[in-house]
Amino acid sequence: LRFALAYVVLTRVTVAVFGPQLESLLVWVAVIAAVAHGPTRRRFRAYVSTFGFRRRFNRALCSTGVEPFASRPPDVVAVGSSGLGKRVELVVPMGTSPDSLTGLRSHLAAAFRVRDVLFERSATDGAVVTMTLSMRDPFGQELPPWPLEGRHAWSFSLPIPFGVDEEGRVVSSSLVEHHLLLGGEPGAGESNALLVVGAAALDPAARLHLLDGKLVELAAWARCADGFVGPDMNEAIGLLEQLRGAMDDRYVALQRLGKRKVDPSDGLAYEVLVCDELALYLNHPDKKAAQRFAEVLRYLLARGRAAGIVVVAATQKPSTDVVPSSLRDLFGYRWAMRCATREASDTILGSGWATEGYSAADIDARTRGLGLLRHEGAAPVKLRAFHLDDAAIERVAIQAGEVRRSARKLGA
Ligand SMILES: Nc1ncnc2c1ncn2[C@@H]1O[C@H](COP(=O)(O)OP(=O)(O)OP(=O)(O)O)[C@@H](O)[C@H]1O
Ligand SMILES: [Mg+2]
Repeated sequence: LRFALAYVVLTRVTVAVFGPQLESLLVWVAVIAAVAHGPTRRRFRAYVSTFGFRRRFNRALCSTGVEPFASRPPDVVAVGSSGLGKRVELVVPMGTSPDSLTGLRSHLAAAFRVRDVLFERSATDGAVVTMTLSMRDPFGQELPPWPLEGRHAWSFSLPIPFGVDEEGRVVSSSLVEHHLLLGGEPGAGESNALLVVGAAALDPAARLHLLDGKLVELAAWARCADGFVGPDMNEAIGLLEQLRGAMDDRYVALQRLGKRKVDPSDGLAYEVLVCDELALYLNHPDKKAAQRFAEVLRYLLARGRAAGIVVVAATQKPSTDVVPSSLRDLFGYRWAMRCATREASDTILGSGWATEGYSAADIDARTRGLGLLRHEGAAPVKLRAFHLDDAAIERVAIQAGEVRRSARKLGA
């Protein structure tokens, strides 16, 4: 704009002083100056590409016939690129929601002849959404090793790296004051995603309690755990009741300290309960025992947050007949691995997410460990979990065991 203004003023003055024959010369001087001036050249190029893309985008939206965007398309404000493909910043018109764009994903992918179209809402502006026209499979390459592998120790209160998202960014989250429920079809990768065990094991101040319905999934962590129980129902109930006793004592200690919740600086450790194959305990043939298990677990989930109790549970299909909704609803964080149906995906993520375009049934079965995580932020995030093979688990567990032993010696 400044350039155009300067040009108009300069031509007017020059034409007035030296006559109209100099005007065409000035046009050429202006064109050469604009081409030679790097920032102006780049801005002009960005303007042309935004303009061109806007036309294609509006045409694509119009062809879907899906309102409101068919007649009121979002404004294209910037076009750039990322490792995945073209990245476009959009501003949706007033009265529309950026979430509604997710439902047009497949229409737009077909219109632009790309592999997939991804949307990410701005964290600061409700009208802004970034659209990525993804040209390649973001999860097609080998994942980097789990960032906590090789760590000397870790603090459980820090964000735990869970996996890598479509842009290749590490997705991390702290589980302090949050319970996490994982679900998916057999072999989708729920047990592998119980990485949280390693993060808790590496913190000598966190107490780790393991319930392993299959006996072999969490067995390698038993050396770092304060409690480890297999499919034995009585032992499992015993472990939960012990934890419940610890929780009640914890509230008495908090009252004495004049605190409302656990803080490790007060010398009160986090109590982390990790359960694989939750359904096995909840659907045990001994109905009385299963009911008792569910009761104590519900008590821990409902009252454990302020007492520093964190529950992470994995199961194949947490539908109401397997995990009662009164238990399921107490898990604030949800992680859905590949599911057979959209309904199964919704039972894990919460109802309505499949209609919004977030369904774990759309995940390719070939990519193990791929899922949708609903944690901080408005919408679920697609990510592939870091993978720990048996040798990696062994290494982290040995390291965690050593850290815990040294901490105990120092404390003794
Ligand atoms: N993120 C991942 N990256 C690579 N491979 C993975 C990943 N997650 C899981 N796998 C592979 O998939 C296989 C199944 O994983 P896992 O045991 O976690 O599945 P599951 O869903 O718990 O199975 P089940 O429902 O039978 O208990 C594992 O042998 C593992 O090698
Ligand atoms: Mg499993």
